[in-house]
Amino acid sequence: MATCLLAIETSCDDTSAAILCNGKVLSNVVASQLEHDSWGGVVPELAARAHLANIEVVVREALKKADISLPELSAIAYTRGPGLLGSLLIGSSFAKSMALGLGVPLIAINHMEAHILAHFIDEPRPDFPFLCLTVSGGHTQLVVVNNYNNMEVIGETLDDAVGEAFDKIGKMMGLGFPAGYKIDKLAQQGNPLAFAFPIYEVGDLNFSFSGIKTAFLYFIREKSPVWIETNLADVCASIQHTLVSLLMKKVLKAMDKTGLKQLALAGGVSANLGLRKRLEEEAQKRNWTLFVPDFQYCTDNAGMVAMAGWFKFQNKEFAGLETAPNARLKIGE
Ligand code: KG4
Ligand code: ZN
Repeated sequence: MATCLLAIETSCDDTSAAILCNGKVLSNVVASQLEHDSWGGVVPELAARAHLANIEVVVREALKKADISLPELSAIAYTRGPGLLGSLLIGSSFAKSMALGLGVPLIAINHMEAHILAHFIDEPRPDFPFLCLTVSGGHTQLVVVNNYNNMEVIGETLDDAVGEAFDKIGKMMGLGFPAGYKIDKLAQQGNPLAFAFPIYEVGDLNFSFSGIKTAFLYFIREKSPVWIETNLADVCASIQHTLVSLLMKKVLKAMDKTGLKQLALAGGVSANLGLRKRLEEEAQKRNWTLFVPDFQYCTDNAGMVAMAGWFKFQNKEFAGLETAPNARLKIGE
């Protein structure tokens, strides 16, 4: 009989549940919350309420899609952190209740580690060790992944995450929230060298995106709505080029410093076509192997939590019911 896990992800504004059996993800259901769009960002209280409304439906759907019944589950994996505390509480309480009710073990997962371990869902899979660039709305990290339970953060943002920079810059252009994919789409028709923005660099392998955000604010507030509309594609292409260049600089430095030859891309911003293109070019030039997960496993999803849970399940790394959600959970904690 197959060994099956249910995984639950509620760290931010997506309610997601997945079923994994014998290491294979059979279903991955995501309910995205649209109630935040008009607020220009995720509203924590609204997110928690929406998780509460969605979670049971999403879990039922994941079971149905995988054709798995509750007695067939061998463990429940859930996101313990990092994320919004109210959102994490809904997922963790639901997961704990299910584990207790079914009499199966509970597996606590770090959301950032899960983004990285999403690379093991489908072929081709990287071999340990590899470097992972995790880029999302909440994080920008360079991680040396020695094993599923041995990861070292060698660089990270000192202020905003790159996804946050995309979203806030998009908001300044009236693109709504989240704006990352809209900037990306518009950028495809624009000239990346049309406008130059100053690059603010911080030391080592760390990143900073708050300076570029402020520079963009000064740039755009002088322009009329008609000018913005006329030049939108060029502006998007130029700002995307600048943000991607900031990422690329540190990726090149990190690959040189570690001597690693495998590079993996994780998190919502890994959907960015401009970033993918630049990475593909460098990978070809420098003989790296580049790993980019399927799009559904790039943004927040429970499939990646299930995969991370499968690694822990095989080593019997279970969590007690007293395990508290941790909004600031660090990699390796
Ligand atoms: O990983 P994710 O789904 O959630 C977090 O944990 O943050 O990432 C969401 C982020 C948002 O900032 C969104 O604007 C960004 O990923 N994003 C993109 C693209 N698609 C999503 N940013 C740039 N280009 C894209 N194509
Ligand atoms: Zn995420």
